This record gives sequence, structure tokens and C-alpha cells, in this order.
Amino acid sequence: MHQDLDQRLRGDIEQFRRDGVYKRFNHLTSPQAPRVQMEGRGEIIILSSNNYLGLSNEPSVVAAGRAGLEQYGAGTASVRFICGTFTVHRDLEAALAELVGTEAALSFVSCWNANEALFATLLGPEDVVISDQLNHASIIDGVRLAKVISKCETAVYRHSDLADLEQVLQAHRDKRTRLIMTDGVFSMEGDIARLPDLLELGRRYDAVVAVDDSHATGVLGPNGRGTAEHYGVVGEVDIITSTLGKALGGAAGGFIASSATVCDYLSQRARPQLFSNALPCTVAASALGAVRHLQAHPDLVTRLHANARYFREQLVARGFKPLAGETPIVPVILGETAKAIRMSEMLLDEGVFVTGFGYPVVPKGEARVRCQVSAGHTREDLDEALGAFERVGRALGLI
Ligand SMILES: Cc1ncc(COP(=O)(O)O)c(C=O)c1O
Repeated sequence: MHQDLDQRLRGDIEQFRRDGVYKRFNHLTSPQAPRVQMEGRGEIIILSSNNYLGLSNEPSVVAAGRAGLEQYGAGTASVRFICGTFTVHRDLEAALAELVGTEAALSFVSCWNANEALFATLLGPEDVVISDQLNHASIIDGVRLAKVISKCETAVYRHSDLADLEQVLQAHRDKRTRLIMTDGVFSMEGDIARLPDLLELGRRYDAVVAVDDSHATGVLGPNGRGTAEHYGVVGEVDIITSTLGKALGGAAGGFIASSATVCDYLSQRARPQLFSNALPCTVAASALGAVRHLQAHPDLVTRLHANARYFREQLVARGFKPLAGETPIVPVILGETAKAIRMSEMLLDEGVFVTGFGYPVVPKGEARVRCQVSAGHTREDLDEALGAFERVGRALGLI
């Protein structure tokens, strides 16, 4: 233990506590589900999970993971190109490509990892990546990394502001490759990227359009195929990155879906592919089970959409002003981080688990509680949660 380092960090942590922004972990003792067992609290309604379709504990998904474990063992024990690629990786990647509507897909151990791989591998000093201001932290860090590793240029456009994006594109007309990067669904706002406009602008400026669909895969579109299906433009997006850690079983893992050439190139050159172990087979198998379950049960997506609509409408009817939107992510802005954490603690005392988010996850002064509705929530679950919101909202003077 290094005394000076520990002392400095302890000082910072004590300050987090004094500021009311220290994050406590809540330990679950049962699988992820609309209602879970929380250590020390008993049964709790979860309204803060990415388990959008309830697949993290779906029996066929769990069975697929178990079969993967039995067939392939606990570990890949290697990176992909040495001896870490298994047939289940190939099957999963084919299924993912089919799901999101691309020629090919390549799996990674997380979408964070996939986003770190993307820009630094595909872009060089003659290229530019142009990123939405509110893109996920993994994109921001992936872009920062690319700037250092591959020396590509980087630029940011105001959130979903196509006029601003066009100016940035104009300023980089001379570049070899312009890559526009956006979240499909913005995780903290719950709004959807203006994909048809982005595609149109991308075509006009000969730019590659890439979408991180982590909160859209399994969520948007009548069949959960993502942002492209939501807008009826499946097959038109150049590159899609997404996670297996949310709607698709919720374990871990990510992927990049694109042309066969892009995926082949990434498999040859992406540093996380070359220097880090492959996705564990049991996780690949359960994710494959999740894709198959989703494709056989589009009704889950319909139920998810109906629940999201109901919860949003009922919050508004009770006097809250959630950010407008049509996704299952329903944020209520509170301002200060301590207030968001206080509200989430009061909701937990009422038996409802909703996380409060503050700086640096969201901009200063825009702290919020973010609700996430799932297909598995019954009307009873949602009404009980709404009752808790009403009581806490009154106590805090919000409604
Ligand atoms: C938009 C977006 N991209 C990437 C990620 C990271 O995904 P993973 O958990 O697979 O690393 C997240 C997770 O929060 C996300 O919301």
C-alpha cells in the first residue's frame, strides 16, 4: 500500500461523501428482473436496468449460456487470431449481422472495447471523426485514443444539430475519410438520433455514418433491430456498434457490424482484437440465445414500447416533466447531483430502485434520475413505482 496515494484518494472520497455524490453499491441476491431481492431491503422494483426485454434471466437464454459453458468450457484462453476463436463466435456474429442488417459483424468483450477499437483502427492522419457532443463516454474515450494512436483529426458537433454538423463537414471537405459518429439512443437523454437526416448529410458529404446502438438494439423498431429499423432504413448505416450487455441477455460483450471488409480489417488490425482475449464462449452462447429469442418473440418489443409509453404518460399525469421522448429511457431532470442522489435514496426507501446521475456522467447542473422501463414490468409494477414517485416528488416539492 502506498501511503501518500491512499491518503490523497481518501481525501477525495471524503469530499465525495460531504458533497452527497458518493455512489453506494446496492447488492442484489437474485437475478436481474423487474422485481429483485436486494440485500438488506428485500423485494425491490428495478426501474434502472438495461434488461429491456427481460432476457438476462430468460430460461432459454440461460440454458444457451449453460450449454455454451458445457461445450466450450470456462475460458477462451487466447486472443482471437491465436487460438481463441470458437464456432460459437462465428454463429453469434452471423446472427448479429442478420439482426441489425449488415453484411458482417465482429464481437468484442464489450461495446466500450468495440468503440475504443473503431476509430483508431479505421482512421489515420488524413481522416476525421466527427462526434455528437452527447455521445457515450466510450465513444469520447475512443475518439481521444484515436487522436493519440492513429493521429486522426477529431471534431464535435452540437447535439443532434445537423446545421452545425454540416459546417463541420464543410470544414473537413479535404479529408480522405469523414466519419460521423452518433449514439442511436442517447443514454442519458433517451432521445433518438436523427438518423435519416444524418444519412442524407453523410451521402452529400461522402461521409461514413456510424451509430452506437447500445440502447437501441432489441429496443427500437417493431422487431428490435435498432435505430435503422425505427426509421425504416435498415441496411443503410455504414457501421453499427452495439452491446450484448443490455437488451441482448445483458451479460457483457459488444460488436461492430458493417461490411465484410470493415469487419475483416478490424479483425486484422484492431488492437483489442489482437492483444486481448475473445468474448467468453458462455457469454457468446447466451447472447446468441438472446438474439434467437428476440427474433421469435417480437411481441416483447411491442410490450416494451407500450410500457414505456404508459410510464411516461403517467409520470406527466402526476405532474412530473420528464424529458420528451419515445424510448424506454425516461429521465427526470433535478439540477444538482446531491438532489438526484437524495431522490433515488428516497425512492429506494419506498422499494423502487432508480439511479440518480450527476456530474461527470451528465453536465453540471443537469443531474437527474433516469428511469428505464422494461417489457417485463407489469402494470402493477409500474403503478407501484409511480405511486412511490408521487410521494417522493411531493416530499421534495417537485410536483
Ligand atoms: C451508448 C453506449 N455505448 C457503449 C456502452 C458500453 O457498453 P458495454 O457495457 O458493452 O461496454 C454503453 C453502456 O452504457 C452505452 O450506453
